[in-house]
Amino acid sequence: MLWPTTFGTVSSPRVQAAPSSGIERDIVMRSKTLAFLAAGLGTALTLTACGANQAAPPASGGSSDTASSGPGIPVGVILPETATSARWEGFDKPMLEAAMKAKGLEPDIQNAQGDVQKFTTLADGMISQGVKVLVIASINSEVGTAVAAKAKARGIPTIDYDRLNLGGSSDYYVSFDNVKVGELQGQGLADALKDKPGAQVIEIEGAPTDNNATLFYNGQQNVLKPLYEAGTLKLVQKQAIDGWDNQKGGTTFEQILTGNGGKVDGVVAANDGLAGAVITVLRKNGLNGKVPVTGQDATADGLMAILRGDQYMTVFKPIKEEAENTASLAALLAKGDTAGADALAKQSSDDTKANRKVKSVLLEPKLTTKDTVKEVVTQGYVKASEICGGDLAPVCSQLGIS
Ligand code: BGC
Repeated sequence: MLWPTTFGTVSSPRVQAAPSSGIERDIVMRSKTLAFLAAGLGTALTLTACGANQAAPPASGGSSDTASSGPGIPVGVILPETATSARWEGFDKPMLEAAMKAKGLEPDIQNAQGDVQKFTTLADGMISQGVKVLVIASINSEVGTAVAAKAKARGIPTIDYDRLNLGGSSDYYVSFDNVKVGELQGQGLADALKDKPGAQVIEIEGAPTDNNATLFYNGQQNVLKPLYEAGTLKLVQKQAIDGWDNQKGGTTFEQILTGNGGKVDGVVAANDGLAGAVITVLRKNGLNGKVPVTGQDATADGLMAILRGDQYMTVFKPIKEEAENTASLAALLAKGDTAGADALAKQSSDDTKANRKVKSVLLEPKLTTKDTVKEVVTQGYVKASEICGGDLAPVCSQLGIS
């Protein structure tokens, strides 16, 4: 396997610290669960049996009038984290909520905050509440696979969302072309360094337990490896960051930079969160703005770093399309329409662990540099007011971002 798991000095995985009070979140979660239960009551009454110890009815038993005025079909969605990227709460959650409601579904969307135990508990709750479909954006393949198996045993179809669970059993997967994401990052860096032969590159990669991080890495190497081999660029060191932990990404980068005598010409950072941590270290060393850094997710922070000249590029992934395709698939599966679902998920992804193909919808990512930040705004992902304050106001007006 190409994936670098053994470089540098990064310690073992740790569970992400929850950013806010656990009690607060539990209260919010419980009240959401209550609201969800109340909303699902009408549907639950029509089900033959969906108590905690009884099998849910087969997926094909759903009614077809999904957009009727009554409560929608209950669907569970579990998101993985908040701290690794602003996308999960900022883009995925509201976009999934809107897309699912538009399809006559009643989504219960929860975030496991990087805690695998919480992920499992949330899944158990949703399964026993009788969700008709479970959408899984897992923290790692192991927990995602375990949850999918439990759902399957209860006759609940599952969709892997964004991250494919290796060794899993979900029949469907919705994501982006993640090798292409990596290729855009590699190409972005190569473009930025084209006038610096022999430029020294440090690679700060995502979590080794996230299949996407492997695909991003593979895509980057499709572009960068030939350049390293030709001596056009020089790889200083590459390091995978457990749990996509942004802070650890920063300290790891700092160690590598120090170990290289403070010299770096370009940085592959696998997403905007890691890029932000890298830029903080570059700034400390008076190098920000001089060293191109890659990113991903087109977050407000990432876009501001691009406008400021501290980050060279990000990858804009139209998450609205990811959410809409997931909602369409979930609506079809809730009705037992697997022929319709198969017609939608026409692409395929390799589960290299289970050695099987998973029916997929894989969307196109886009390279975003300073010149194209505007597109992310016009498409409604971030507001101009979020990224154009203070010192960035003149930059925005020059680029026509308003
Ligand atoms: C997602 C990225 C995200 C990263 C960290 C990946 O699986 O595809 O968009 O930045 O996880 O959350």
